[in-house]
Amino acid sequence: MTVLVTGGAGYIGSHTVLALLEQGEQVVVLDNLSNSVVESLRRVEQLTGRSVTFYHGDIRNAACLDEIFTQYHISTVIHFAGLKAVGESVSNPLEYYQNNVAGTLTLLQQMQQAKVYRLIFSSSATVYGTNATVPYTESAPVGATTNPYGTSKLMVEQVLQDLARAEPHFSIIALRYFNPVGAHESGLIGEDPNGIPNNLLPYISQVAVGKLARLGIFGDDYPTKDGTGVRDYIHVMDLAEGHLAAMRSLPRVNGFKAYNLGTGVGYSVFEMLRAFEKASGITIPYQVLPRRAGDLAACWADTTLAKQELGWKAVRGIDVMMRDTWNWQRQNPQGYQS
Ligand code: NAD
Ligand code: WQD
Repeated sequence: MTVLVTGGAGYIGSHTVLALLEQGEQVVVLDNLSNSVVESLRRVEQLTGRSVTFYHGDIRNAACLDEIFTQYHISTVIHFAGLKAVGESVSNPLEYYQNNVAGTLTLLQQMQQAKVYRLIFSSSATVYGTNATVPYTESAPVGATTNPYGTSKLMVEQVLQDLARAEPHFSIIALRYFNPVGAHESGLIGEDPNGIPNNLLPYISQVAVGKLARLGIFGDDYPTKDGTGVRDYIHVMDLAEGHLAAMRSLPRVNGFKAYNLGTGVGYSVFEMLRAFEKASGITIPYQVLPRRAGDLAACWADTTLAKQELGWKAVRGIDVMMRDTWNWQRQNPQGYQS
């Protein structure tokens, strides 16, 4: 039996492929490399001593999916492929709905045709939008998303629920990630954003290696512990292990289930900055800027359900997140081009 990982050359995908290979799974990756390079998978192979079958292709290409489902006995699909830059989704919504929604529809149709009924989908805490209160439980209201990226995740969750209702032989888990950070402890694979990073920790670590001059902090007047935004940062290897736990639970899932993958702990921007400085020994210059449009004051997970039903919880704390972020960035100042 083989696991198909869409978007497996990307940040979270590559770490999950590594965890799957270490568990002895056979893995096929389908990725169009729109936001990744195949070098990530070569390094995963180097780390595990195992090989990954790679298809350079698009989830919107039914023929390509058909070929994979015909060629391999796929038991489960882990579906990471999609676009994820919030600002870009506002300026180019059609691309986002095309890749994230239409792409997922094509994948589901091909799964249906091939009678592959087990799916894990990369959802996001962003589906809770502005309606929920912290800590977010899975039963908190979803909707009121503030950008097309978030709406695309919400739309896919809706499609998955409708599909699971119509065809109960499907077992589908949507994992709502909070803020993924960090890298594999080897420092060989990690997050390699294109251009200037949108997310906090990649930005801080690029300041640390001198690629960027200083961090801009988006607002210090939020009603939080120190005025800066608070988030639930989760180590990418904890996330990867969350996917293994979800995969083990899939046979018990009839229909659709959503789980939060977070730590349940919220850290402010200043706390993240100080923790990074401690791990790296480097002082990060910063300036406080106005708030960024669409940002929430605080967001963290209630992690009870994943603990109870998946038997999973995050085990890596903020010091490990910072150590591994720095280890990756230091060894690969230009990302995979280093
Ligand atoms: P990433 O961009 O590193 O990985 C996504 C991968 O999908 C890339 O390798 C990209 O080349 C590929 N891809 C994109 N469109 C494709 C298509 N049409 N066909 C085939 N491949 C395609 O992003 P990531 O951070 O690893 O995120 C993985 C998933 O998790 C995404 O669905 C993202 O929306 C979701 N997610 C990410 C975060 C985060 O902060 N990183 C948070 C919540 C949810
Ligand atoms: C974290 C905190 C910023 C950058 C985004 C997406 C979300 C999800 C994860 C996919 C906030 C502050 C940031 C900077 C800063 N992705 N910040 N200066 O916004 O919580 O979530 O990524 O699903 O959908 O919106 O993460 O890392 O951008 O921001 O002050 O240069 O850091 O204001 O408080 P966010 P982030």
